[in-house]
Amino acid sequence: MRILSLFVALIFSLCFCDGYKFLMVLNSPGRSHFNVGHALAKGLVQAGHEITVVSVFPLKKPMPGYHDIYVPNVIGAMRGDLAALWQSIQKPLTQKLIDHYHMGFRLTRALFVDPNFQDLLKSNRTFDAVICETFYNDAHYGLAEHFQAPLIGLSTGGGLTFITDMVGSPAPASFVPHIMLPFNDHMSLYERLVNVAFLAYERLLLDYYYLPGQEALYKEFFPENKRCFYEMRRNASLVLINQHVSLSFPRPYAPNLIEVGGMHIDGKLSPLPAKIEKFLNESEHGAIYFSMGSNLKSKDLPPEKVQEILKAFRGLKQRVLWKFELEDLPNKPDNLFISDWFPQTDILAHPKVLAFITHGGMLSTTESIYHGKPVIGLPIFSDQFFNMAHAEQTGYGIMLDFKSLKAADLKAAIERITSVPSYTEVIRGMSFRYRDQQQTPLKNAVYWVEHVTRHQGAAYLQSAAQRLNWWQYHNVDVLLIIFGVVILLLVALPLAIWRLLRGVFGGGKTQPQGEKRKRN
Ligand SMILES: *[C@@H]1O[C@H](CO)[C@@H](O)[C@H](O)[C@H]1NC(C)=O
Ligand SMILES: *[C@@H]1O[C@H](CO)[C@@H](O)[C@H](O)[C@H]1NC(C)=O
Ligand SMILES: *[C@@H]1O[C@H](CO)[C@@H](O)[C@H](O)[C@H]1NC(C)=O
Repeated sequence: MRILSLFVALIFSLCFCDGYKFLMVLNSPGRSHFNVGHALAKGLVQAGHEITVVSVFPLKKPMPGYHDIYVPNVIGAMRGDLAALWQSIQKPLTQKLIDHYHMGFRLTRALFVDPNFQDLLKSNRTFDAVICETFYNDAHYGLAEHFQAPLIGLSTGGGLTFITDMVGSPAPASFVPHIMLPFNDHMSLYERLVNVAFLAYERLLLDYYYLPGQEALYKEFFPENKRCFYEMRRNASLVLINQHVSLSFPRPYAPNLIEVGGMHIDGKLSPLPAKIEKFLNESEHGAIYFSMGSNLKSKDLPPEKVQEILKAFRGLKQRVLWKFELEDLPNKPDNLFISDWFPQTDILAHPKVLAFITHGGMLSTTESIYHGKPVIGLPIFSDQFFNMAHAEQTGYGIMLDFKSLKAADLKAAIERITSVPSYTEVIRGMSFRYRDQQQTPLKNAVYWVEHVTRHQGAAYLQSAAQRLNWWQYHNVDVLLIIFGVVILLLVALPLAIWRLLRGVFGGGKTQPQGEKRKRN
């Protein structure tokens, strides 16, 4: 018996020796972003590794192998942005992009100057890999060189350009729309034109505004790093993105860019709070769940919008759950239940819940697909327009314009989505396909993090695209040579032939004329 327990202890200690030490930096103060990183962190701890998580959400219950570094300084850096989110819908896309970069500069600096983060930088700690959230914070990637460890990017959204850049992942503009545009992979000529123009605009902003700003932060806070910012940024070992082909459309990726969409859904359901369960159980005609996510607060809605929404809900035979952050909502109809927090996954799993009114963020969209509940989309910012355009085109959702939203529109959309069966049928099919994966997205993510760590950064996966500049990448130099030769042939050759012919047939006449003139 004693020998057996010794043996077990030995096995455990062997496993422990195999464990890696990871640093994870979650720089965005949004709860939903944290949930994605946290899921991966827990997955890595369960696989026997040790992880140090830099974030604004320290664990309430400590977990062995999981160490928090709390960076409260970051919270203040985004407060203004969160309050302005509702207004951001009025702004053109070209301006929204610039706003994101400004927010990125503030967040990046706020983390750097946080005293707890500075302690980490000055410490003698070592890590086997650095996992960095990719949220407009490229200067943070210098942590990899600082700790002499491979860099792993973790995107809580899809493949934005500054993320695919890290591993040189291809994104052909002919069928891969920018994720802030409401297009899908079948674009009309006009849509392709808009896509190319917007991508070019973004490229210019990135190269001449955003990246130089991040480079300055990198130089300021990593004065000892030898590698230049641009080299460092293009040397990621792995990028995990929160996307899955069954949630969007097929597109090519570099082999070290891995889709792990839905990593935060663990498939386990918890019992609902009794009050909510009772409210749902007793809904004769089913219920609708309405939440704009963790960043958009319904209490900050313009009052006239709140009245329109209440007017829409009042006439419904279904019950409604609304994530609304104030205790008291005047004029609240009887079929409405408000709360500042809902266990979203467990609610979406409840059989009485018929549809989800959402902003269409990636996490909410993934959860609604996982649970097979059709959506009514009120997109406000970022990839929400893209996701909801996809929902409408695929047939599992209805997209409404928040700016002009009236009670009648919302009511009609709810009635339509609860009475036309095809919405639910389509999303149930998607749910079935999405769940049919070889291993869970979390297991896949853990495997890939271990893989690139085991192979010291797995340089063999790195695309040669990373070593090319844009004109080499697009073969502009080659095309110039080819066109040059073609033009030479088309212009110079006929000219030369003409000259030759003129020389042979007409040479006798022209020469004397010229001589005559000279003499005069
Ligand atoms: C690292 O620093 C701590 C204190 O900050 C010290 O106790 C420890 O001995 C150091 N370890 C190494 C390997 O230098
Ligand atoms: C890229 O990163 C790896 C570690 O992942 C490092 O060994 C290598 O020197 C880096 N290369 C460049 C060109 O920065
Ligand atoms: C709700 O309904 C389920 C299934 O019918 C039942 O198991 C559960 O106890 C009910 N909960 C409440 C609070 O009524």
